[in-house]
Amino acid sequence: MTTPIRLQACGFTHADGTCALQPTDLSVEAGETLALLGPSGCGKTTLLRLVAGLARPDPGGCVLFDGRDVTDLPVERRNVGMVFQSYALFPNLDVAGNVGYGLKIRRVPPGERAARVARMLAMMRIQELAHRRVDQLSGGQKQRVALARALAVEPAVLLLDEPLTALDAKLREQLRVELAGLLRSLRITAIFVTHDQGEALALGDRVAVMRAGRIEQVGSPHEIYHRPRTRFVASFVGILNLLEGEVADGLFRLPGGSLPASGVAPGPAVLACRPEQLRLDPSGTLAGRIAAAFFLGDRTRLVVEGAAAQPIVVETVAAAPRPGEVVRLAAEPGCPWPLPPA
Ligand SMILES: Nc1ncnc2c1ncn2[C@@H]1O[C@H](COP(=O)(O)OP(=O)(O)OP(=O)(O)O)[C@@H](O)[C@H]1O
Ligand SMILES: [Mg+2]
Repeated sequence: MTTPIRLQACGFTHADGTCALQPTDLSVEAGETLALLGPSGCGKTTLLRLVAGLARPDPGGCVLFDGRDVTDLPVERRNVGMVFQSYALFPNLDVAGNVGYGLKIRRVPPGERAARVARMLAMMRIQELAHRRVDQLSGGQKQRVALARALAVEPAVLLLDEPLTALDAKLREQLRVELAGLLRSLRITAIFVTHDQGEALALGDRVAVMRAGRIEQVGSPHEIYHRPRTRFVASFVGILNLLEGEVADGLFRLPGGSLPASGVAPGPAVLACRPEQLRLDPSGTLAGRIAAAFFLGDRTRLVVEGAAAQPIVVETVAAAPRPGEVVRLAAEPGCPWPLPPA
């Protein structure tokens, strides 16, 4: 019972003429989790609404579930579970009533219904709230009720719009792990929207990066991070150092020294590197001064000035140098790399 999803030329234009989504093709395989990542207003919720059946694509667009055209099928006949940004809980029902609602509609017998509701509440760690009214819940608790409600019916397709944003860091991490396990074990096809790049890379089997109503790149988390196809994807996902310098004799010359630049054409160049592709190394060929150090717990993020025209971000797990100290940097093989087109 696992459903591949396909969008063909699905665009969406609002009544006032605003194009929220350009005609878009997208395939999500059966059982796959796709993370949708992109800046505010780029069309993520719009895309989810088209998949759910809450909005109809512009003429010419079509939505396929398992190869079947569902463009004209209303939301209640698509077997989708949804968690939207606004939660949309039923205010007149308590927590258990909300979570069990879909099961009741589907005429699941009361005994089994109660057991499934209890399982969902336990998973979301809100058992003790079963009989609380939803207007007496915090944002994070409402979010968990919405998730439990969506999952309770074991939908073929699960659509999540920033499902973990209202949670504290610890709970978010726990639910992220459980959600990932659940999506895998139930083989639910899922699309989830997040603003959090780390979450997209960690939870998505694939990640789609959107920009201004278009999908700019779809790929594995590894591809998106290490082989971004556009400059926008490169700079939107993760931290990116942009280095402006001059390539000559296989070296990339920068204000604070040089880095190897094999295979890059000679002349002025802007090359890129991720923080973890650089390391502090006393024999490094690029020197700079620590401008700031941010202790992140498991590592320290350093901002190095003077090495390049712009400050460079580097991370270290060892004892961190202090602001003002001069450090030397070395780069991994293949780094820095040429930037993709804008
Ligand atoms: N009723 C409306 N009429 C006109 N334009 C709208 C309407 N609703 C949304 N839009 C526009 O459609 C575009 C896409 O909106 P959408 O909600 O899909 O963005 P989003 O990527 O989900 O953003 P966010 O991350 O802030 O939730 C936005 O530019 C938004 O301003
Ligand atoms: Mg949105």
